[in-house]
Amino acid sequence: MNPRLEGKCLSMPVVTSGLTHGLSIFADMFCDAGDVLLLPDMMWGNYRMIFATRRGAELRHYPFFSPEGELNITAFREALFALKDRPKALVLLNFPHNPTGYTPCPGEASALVEALVDAAEVGANIVACVDDAYTGLFYEEDIFNESLFSLLAGAHPRIASIKIDGPTKEDYVWGFRVGFITFSLAESEGREEVYGVLEKKVGGLIRGTISKSSMPAQSLLVHAMKTAGYREEKDEKFVLLKDRYDEVKTVLSGYDYADAFRAYPFNSGYFMCLRLLRTDAELLRRHLLDEYGVGVIAMGDRDIRIAFSCIEKEQIKDLFDILYTGVKDLDKNFEKTGRK
Ligand SMILES: Cc1ncc(COP(=O)(O)O)c(C=O)c1O
Repeated sequence: MNPRLEGKCLSMPVVTSGLTHGLSIFADMFCDAGDVLLLPDMMWGNYRMIFATRRGAELRHYPFFSPEGELNITAFREALFALKDRPKALVLLNFPHNPTGYTPCPGEASALVEALVDAAEVGANIVACVDDAYTGLFYEEDIFNESLFSLLAGAHPRIASIKIDGPTKEDYVWGFRVGFITFSLAESEGREEVYGVLEKKVGGLIRGTISKSSMPAQSLLVHAMKTAGYREEKDEKFVLLKDRYDEVKTVLSGYDYADAFRAYPFNSGYFMCLRLLRTDAELLRRHLLDEYGVGVIAMGDRDIRIAFSCIEKEQIKDLFDILYTGVKDLDKNFEKTGRK
């Protein structure tokens, strides 16, 4: 799955109670009140709870996409360099990305890592956390189909990288509560001892909060993974999601919704996002729920997240038609009442 990790020296992966728990361990270990955590403007909302509400971090955002609709590596780079004089720079990267469903192409992945290495080179002390919740769900050929951790591991003496992963989404076991946290440091004398200390700290945090991670869930998973047909079943589920992804692409390319919304780039994961041209996202969300029983997530003023992963292929065209009708309904309301 991550051939570039071959031969790299990593800590032992420690089992956590799902990915959120791993992320909150990362937060408890590295994130103090007032620290800046760099995140894209489009992000999984729970990061706010984990890092800002719980730990008092300042979440600093850079635009995920450029106005041209490309991954905004320039903005990432600038935001990173602005942190170079702070005692530490915390960064969180998540691909396939929630909410947009975007994964970089190989060139973009290298450019992201290059930005981190260049910032470390001019003095930034970086702790880069990679959230691999949706890893493996890559639907196109030309994308970087490995964890960014593969490129980051050992990349620079001033970069500590952390990988958070687990079967929740990868193996479709949402309620199991199993995850892993793994560290990587650049080669140095004493690196093994530092790994030992980090592993013990994680152990202490687990002991002092949830005591231990669920054994039955781990045993069930190991058993499932050793069972004949596991790989085939997993591939089947992948094909199911890819079919839904392909259908979204087909519907968006075949029908004209361009006067109401446009899609942000997407190529992986569970989700995709739409940019509404004039409609208020929260108003549309409520309208779709009240009038059509359709649930979407509103983000900011103009963005809507769609979980194509959980919609039957046959219903995808209907969904986009309903979204379009919803926009038109609100246009009419506006014409009638002058209110949005
Ligand atoms: C980006 C991302 N990270 C982490 C998680 C949480 O995973 P878990 O349910 O294992 O805590 C999610 C779940 O929605 C997610 O979207």
